[in-house]
Amino acid sequence: MKKKPIISYVAIAAILMLTLGAAYLYKKQSEKIQNEDTYKVADENPDEIVDGIHVRTGLVAAEGLQEVITNCTTCHSSKLIVQNRMGKEQWNATIRWMQETQGLWDLGENQQVIVDYLTTNYPTFKKGRRAALTDIEWYTLDTK
Ligand code: HEC
Repeated sequence: MKKKPIISYVAIAAILMLTLGAAYLYKKQSEKIQNEDTYKVADENPDEIVDGIHVRTGLVAAEGLQEVITNCTTCHSSKLIVQNRMGKEQWNATIRWMQETQGLWDLGENQQVIVDYLTTNYPTFKKGRRAALTDIEWYTLDTK
């Protein structure tokens, strides 16, 4: 039998170790994702509210929250709501658009409740730019 050079054994060992290492890291990572608090909270208490925020959806806990959860979080994430800031007209127009093109149902009397909730808790930003910074600790730049 022809003797294989030692280098090929080393190479095989190295490949084996890399594969095992990658598998181990992958497993650890997926365990970590499963253990994230949000999942735990959602499983244990879907209605938990912390600091005025409904934990599972990230929506402000206020009058109309339940109507919003029921009617507005089945098709898409509540993030889509949280990241939008609109006035009454715009919210009504967005709802109409979803009704006409995306299959959103007639909200009936809940529309008023929902739009009130949205304009109260997610109003348009009043400031056109960020507010001036306060509490700044200035330091002297040493140019020497
Ligand atoms: C029948 C499904 C459905 C329901 C229920 C629904 N939406 Fe939507 N909505 C959509 C789809 C589809 C989009 C487009 C998503 C995209 O662009 O990725 C959308 C987009 C949006 C947007 C983004 C609009 C934009 O201009 O970018 C907002 C805000 C929104 N929905 C809020 C709501 C609110 C508030 C409710 C509750 C009244 C609601 N949605 C209920 C289907 C729905």
